[in-house]
Amino acid sequence: MAVEQTLSIIKPDGVQKNLIGEIYSRFEKAGLEIVAARMIHLTLDQAQGFYAVHKERPFYSDLVSYMMSGPVVVTALQGEDAILKHREIMGATNPADADPGTIRADFAASIEENVVHGSDGPDTAAVEIAFFFGDDGVCPRTR
Ligand code: CMP
Repeated sequence: MAVEQTLSIIKPDGVQKNLIGEIYSRFEKAGLEIVAARMIHLTLDQAQGFYAVHKERPFYSDLVSYMMSGPVVVTALQGEDAILKHREIMGATNPADADPGTIRADFAASIEENVVHGSDGPDTAAVEIAFFFGDDGVCPRTR
C-alpha cells in the first residue's frame, strides 16, 4: 500500500442536494484526509479543459453544460490507496451498476448526473490536482 493523493469533485447535483458533509464524511470515515479544498463555479474554459480527454465523446457538450450548471466542491484527498479507495466509495460511473451503499448508488440520478468525480489513476490524479490547486495549493498534514 502507498500513500496517494486523488482529486475529488462534488458535482453540481451533489451540491444542490446538500450532500457535501455526507459525502466527505464517508471519505473521512474511510481514512482519507482533505489536504486541499475549494468551492468554485466552473467557467466554460475550466469545464472544457478539465474534461478535455472526453472531447470526442458524444456526451461531451452535455457534460460541460452540466458541470457549469452550479457550483462544485473540489478537494484533494490523501491516504493509503486513496485513488482506489475513493473510487470504491463513489461506485461505478453509471449508478445502475454501482454497488449498494456507494455514493452513486445512494444519490446519483443518471450516468451523467452522477454526483461525484474521482481521479482514475496516479498520473491523472497529479494532473487533476495541479489543474485546480497548482504547484503549491495542497497543504501537507503536519499533525
Ligand atoms: P466522471 O467520473 O466525472 O468522468 C466523466 C464523466 O462523464 C462521468 O463522470 C459522467 O458524469 C459523464 N459520463 C460518462 N459516461 C457518460 C455517458 N455514457 N453519457 C453521459 N455522460 C457520461
